Amino acid sequence: MSKLAWQQPKRGFSSVYVVAALGLLVTGLPFMNASPITLADFEERRDRLANALVAEDADAFVVEPGYTFKYYGNVSQPEWEVWEPEERPFLMVVRPQEDETGTVKANTTFLCPSFEAERARLLGMPFRDSIQIVPWEEHWNPYRTLQQANVFSGLQRHPRLMVDEEMRDFIQRGLATVGFDVVGLKGKVEEVRQIKSDKEVDILRAVNTGTVEAVRQIRKCLYPGLTETDIAVALDNALRAAGLEPFFDIVLFDENASNPHGGTNGSKVLESETFVLIDVGAHLYGYSSDICRTFFPPFLEKPSRGDTLSPRMLEKLKVWDIVFEAQTQSIHQMRENSTASSVDIAAREVITDAGYGETFTHRVGHGIGIKAHESPYLNQGNLDSLLKTGMTFTSEPGIYLVDKFGVRHEDVFLVQGDGEPELLTGSRAIGPWDP
Ligand SMILES: *[C@@H]1O[C@H](CO)[C@@H](O)[C@H](O)[C@H]1NC(C)=O
Ligand SMILES: *[C@@H]1O[C@H](CO)[C@@H](O)[C@H](O)[C@H]1NC(C)=O
Ligand SMILES: *[C@@H]1O[C@H](CO)[C@@H](O)[C@H](O)[C@H]1NC(C)=O
Ligand SMILES: *[C@@H]1O[C@H](CO)[C@@H](O)[C@H](O)[C@H]1NC(C)=O
Ligand SMILES: *[C@@H]1O[C@H](CO)[C@@H](O)[C@H](O)[C@H]1NC(C)=O
Repeated sequence: MSKLAWQQPKRGFSSVYVVAALGLLVTGLPFMNASPITLADFEERRDRLANALVAEDADAFVVEPGYTFKYYGNVSQPEWEVWEPEERPFLMVVRPQEDETGTVKANTTFLCPSFEAERARLLGMPFRDSIQIVPWEEHWNPYRTLQQANVFSGLQRHPRLMVDEEMRDFIQRGLATVGFDVVGLKGKVEEVRQIKSDKEVDILRAVNTGTVEAVRQIRKCLYPGLTETDIAVALDNALRAAGLEPFFDIVLFDENASNPHGGTNGSKVLESETFVLIDVGAHLYGYSSDICRTFFPPFLEKPSRGDTLSPRMLEKLKVWDIVFEAQTQSIHQMRENSTASSVDIAAREVITDAGYGETFTHRVGHGIGIKAHESPYLNQGNLDSLLKTGMTFTSEPGIYLVDKFGVRHEDVFLVQGDGEPELLTGSRAIGPWDP
């Protein structure tokens, strides 16, 4: 339809807010077929960590509340420190331990301020038995307390502790000062979180498919005069109605989308030839979606063969297709043992060959899980990281033309052996009228 189906709304309310949410709900939410991570899953991932620690010759993995702690112990930084990041160390210490049969399992201990021990227990972390706590008093050195506890007795060397990027510097130095050998995240230990279980994949598939579906429902409800902010608010509402919790939502029109992450104030108004870019992420059971679509509004009639189009319109159509082809080529490269670099280069070659190389200003993608952006990162310099079966990645090439428009297509994929990766976003876009 080229006639306007809707009147401009009164400021402060727009029908898209309600209609898109209803549109999504009447689909019956077929994508919502995943279940949350259970206690047994948490045990299994800590046991995988224990085995990885043996493989990397480390005596323990030590982690502060944050994303990694959330992954192994279900407590995020704000869930522990509701006020502000706490200067008193509260550490989860996971050690490999062999049982009678020779099987390596995790044995987990918490170094915890003495007066907080009860609060730590009340977190209800996913452990079968009551958690083991090494308490430290306010006037003690917490690191020495850990060193002198029964945890590391029997080792023939300075205990080697592996930490990751979320471990704050003063704690790393505190541990090193009392004689721990502190080493950075690597190898098999990093792979534990990078390689997703079937259950994690199910959740990622649900949340990413649902997020794409929400964008499609929003598009159907658009009418001229809406602002970028109007659409972002309506999209957040639709996602919440479906049981997904949005955590970022970038809606950009035309030239405002030439800045990949936006930065303008959301006041630009939708017109018929506006290229709409939406990049959005939501959470389900602690897992992230991260998808992007670029499209025309539904009230712009799709041109027929032979129609005369403006140069701007022609360029939009051309660029949409180039970015799509770049995404396709990157997907073919998402196989076990490909380098992260090769995935980026596959997309970049398409865009460069089309003459837009300089305008593809960011990497092609990244790992995705409980964080929207996780390692391994798919950039052309990353020759060291090899893709493994079970890793999940975005592919999100883009072309950004300053003062004109920006195009990005983003979907999520699961690497599976030597074959094509599995799409975790339901279906890719088909065209600018069918995102
Ligand atoms: C993990 O924490 C969330 C709240 O953040 C809770 O809903 C869920 O039940 C917990 N999972 C387990 C297995 O304890
Ligand atoms: C875990 O390690 C602690 C400290 O070394 C020990 O007391 C405890 O028995 C171990 N737990 C299991 C289940 O072996
Ligand atoms: C948004 O920014 C534009 C300039 O880019 C300005 O004209 C407009 O007044 C701003 N709108 C709001 C709501 O701040
Ligand atoms: C973004 O859109 C606003 C509103 O139309 C406009 O004033 C502003 O110049 C645009 N910003 C950029 C960087 O193009
Ligand atoms: C990837 O490399 C590993 C180690 O060299 C090998 O065992 C595995 O079979 C390779 N996978 C594929 C799909 O070729």
